[in-house]
Amino acid sequence: MSNESDQYWRSAAEDESMQGAHEFVWKATLQTIDVDLQGKRVLDVGCNRGGFLRLLYDQGEIAEGFGYDPAAGAVEDASRLAGQRPIFFKVADTIPEEWSEFEVAFSHGVIYLIHDLIGHARGMYRALAAGGSYYASIGVHADSPLLVGWHHDHVDELKLPRLYSVDEVMSVFSDIGFECAAARLQMGFVPAVLPEVGLTARLVEWLDYNYERKLLLRFTKRAKHSTGQH
Ligand SMILES: C[S@@+](CC[C@H](N)C(=O)[O-])C[C@H]1O[C@@H](n2cnc3c(N)ncnc32)[C@H](O)[C@@H]1O
Repeated sequence: MSNESDQYWRSAAEDESMQGAHEFVWKATLQTIDVDLQGKRVLDVGCNRGGFLRLLYDQGEIAEGFGYDPAAGAVEDASRLAGQRPIFFKVADTIPEEWSEFEVAFSHGVIYLIHDLIGHARGMYRALAAGGSYYASIGVHADSPLLVGWHHDHVDELKLPRLYSVDEVMSVFSDIGFECAAARLQMGFVPAVLPEVGLTARLVEWLDYNYERKLLLRFTKRAKHSTGQH
């Protein structure tokens, strides 16, 4: 986290505009996933101001949502913006110990910020119910040419870990015991807001990035097998 008293990821105004700018990715994520969210208990890792969980609840899908993020100001905003919805937020940089039995979990744009990836994978394994899946979208990775330069330029300012490859992320989760799979996001229209997201690229590169390199990783905790006894 950086500046603004460490209350926000970037700043109050930038976090607010980032959440608006991410709506098209959240919608693409919902087009891509292979689980019915109706009535589910859902976790959002790195929830920032809680926009994704509000979207899920307002679409009439989830039963309850939980989100955590180290940015205290953003989490305070998330709690306020949630109003009466059954969605709950906590300031944390690892999954709160008392949170468990999630049927579905998400993160968008968070994996590349996590220094202890093995610890994160272990925490997610503990927090998921048997048969549950963690869908993590990732665009900042070593095989994403447009964002390799972005990572290089922001590594000190944002205290980023080294750039991970997708294969490396997959093998960390696989070693913990997850079944791993990946998809390209089912993208629709992509807002042409390159300067807003801090990129100097041509629109086709931005489209290629979103269509080709922004991936949805799926980590599934195997369902408990029956013992076969009757
Ligand atoms: C690029 S933003 C994405 C926010 C949100 N997921 C979205 O789609 O708009 C990354 C978020 O991850 C949070 N973050 C940073 N380190 C984290 C960690 N170790 N665990 C969880 N979230 C973290 C940041 O505070 C920030 O809110």
